[in-house]
Amino acid sequence: MLVVRSKQELNEHLAEWRQHGDHIALVPTMGNLHAGHMSLVDLASEHAERIVVSVFVNPTQFSNGEDFDQYPRTLERDTRRLKNLPADLVFAPDVETMYPFGLQDATTVSVPRLTEHFCGASRPGHFDGVTSVVARLFALTQPDTAVFGQKDYQQQLVIRHMCQDLNLPIAIITGETVREADGLAMSSRNQYLSDEERGKAPLLFEVLSGVGSELQNGCRNFEELESESIATLRDAGFDVDYFSIRRAQNLEIPDRDCDELVVLAAANLGGARLIDNTVVTI
Ligand code: PAF
Repeated sequence: MLVVRSKQELNEHLAEWRQHGDHIALVPTMGNLHAGHMSLVDLASEHAERIVVSVFVNPTQFSNGEDFDQYPRTLERDTRRLKNLPADLVFAPDVETMYPFGLQDATTVSVPRLTEHFCGASRPGHFDGVTSVVARLFALTQPDTAVFGQKDYQQQLVIRHMCQDLNLPIAIITGETVREADGLAMSSRNQYLSDEERGKAPLLFEVLSGVGSELQNGCRNFEELESESIATLRDAGFDVDYFSIRRAQNLEIPDRDCDELVVLAAANLGGARLIDNTVVTI
């Protein structure tokens, strides 16, 4: 497994692969890899001969008071884990490599509207940080394909929007959420949960799935489904940020005959922010 930290070294490998006519897929991550990331690497290998996994804890997508300092940095373990997978190269740049003009003078890429609600509302500046770093990673690797997880549903929509709007010739693929046996979506932040909180955490997906079934069965009382779900989660000790039924395509408010819905939720449980969703196609 190649572990590369500089742009120059990255360019050398990319140029060699392109010379052979290989397609390149990028799997952007912040490291601390779990089975969810592994599944994205496997998915990437169905679309390209060469896979780059970037590992970069991006400071610009964390607000003050969030877990940037605390975020687990486990590059050695991540690299070991990737050895059994079809990944060719780990790109693990430092902040100076990613932001050569420094954070204050860094160019920002910003997607309006789609980022105003949900995670964008509760984490101001978060999506500007995500799109800015993903645009940089795209410029550095110029991949044919990039793979993102469905758990971050709003994020993958925002990135699709950015690519379409900027005419970036990159196919965006979304990989299904990988779950623990009890349904909890895999996330690096799950490790912030105490044992007691970990016991409660699967309720988030249980409630999402319940709403998914109700919608599937024809229920269209969106507001009632949302408020009942919020109450159930609050009663169990979740601090609910949002729980919402939206159009899957663009997160707009759906009308009754919308046939592709997404149920999105974010909630804090102790020190962990949990996000999850379920897509309902009718
Ligand atoms: O989803 C993530 O891990 C991050 O937001 C990403 C896409 C790697 C950008 O830092």
